[in-house]
Amino acid sequence: MPDLPPKAAIAVACNKGGVGKTTLATNLAIYLRALREDLPVAVLSLDDQRSVDRMFALRDPAPGEGNLKHAWAERSLDRVLQLGNYGVHFVPSPPEVALLKARAEDPATLRRILERTHFEGLFVLDTKSDLEALTENALHAADRILVPVADWASLDEAGKTFRALDRGRIAAQRARIVLTLVDRRTRVDGARGLHERLEAEIAARGWPRYATALSRSPRVETLNSGGGRPRSILHHARGTAVHAEMRALAEEVLADLAELLAPADAGARAAVWGRGAAPPRPPLARARATSILEAFRRR
Ligand SMILES: Nc1ncnc2c1ncn2[C@@H]1O[C@H](COP(=O)(O)OP(=O)(O)O)[C@@H](O)[C@H]1O
Ligand SMILES: [Mg+2]
Repeated sequence: MPDLPPKAAIAVACNKGGVGKTTLATNLAIYLRALREDLPVAVLSLDDQRSVDRMFALRDPAPGEGNLKHAWAERSLDRVLQLGNYGVHFVPSPPEVALLKARAEDPATLRRILERTHFEGLFVLDTKSDLEALTENALHAADRILVPVADWASLDEAGKTFRALDRGRIAAQRARIVLTLVDRRTRVDGARGLHERLEAEIAARGWPRYATALSRSPRVETLNSGGGRPRSILHHARGTAVHAEMRALAEEVLADLAELLAPADAGARAAVWGRGAAPPRPPLARARATSILEAFRRR
């Protein structure tokens, strides 16, 4: 079996809004790119809030420029992927997701799109705060599903995400809880912090979790709300706890995906797929070289 360049996908998903999905997805992409210069990273949002575009776009969109809606129709990101700020690729967001959602009934659509795309590297998929068709597509396409949990309410919403995985016959072992917006000063019962109690509850439910938790930081809030372009934690909040945490989390993700991200034969890659109730599925396939020729022939 010849060596294959890496191709993998991470989704960030939680039914609850405001838990920091987009902040996590966009900044994680930047840290991963910074830590592994040899690893191309592409961010794709299944939301229409355009935060990803505002963070990564190097210029205003050109008239008629392709976005995710076109890619969905073309079943490939090849035409729409752009190299953006911080060396991170991104897919321009669709003007609104309603139309796309109507074309996403088959939950394997996005997975096939990623497979057919001639981009070798890591895709980071940001999702909307729902468990509807587009989010289901992200869950199906992802090798790892990061589920941010900020409080008890989002813990219940995380439960819904795990049930969605179950319904989609996706191994729960592919999910990772990430504690976010942790207020280190919060004390629920005077003795034990909310953070520790959430950790204990997550362990009791048997959900996989990354060890790194992300603190609530006024600085991060300012980076996102300072008007115009959201700014990266790596470049604009060095020296904060969140910077150290994002770096630690990115290292944890890289270690977790080490086998998927190393050029390896397909057999080794298959071995790292989570073993769960559901049968393991093959890792993201590479687009066949011949499909470039096919694309030319179709023109
Ligand atoms: N670590 C953090 N500290 C403080 N505020 C944060 C942090 N992460 C995200 N936020 C803020 O929380 C709000 C929701 O974040 P966002 O990433 O948009 O969540 P989601 O995508 O889940 O709706 C934003 O105003 C963002 O600036
Ligand atoms: Mg969001």
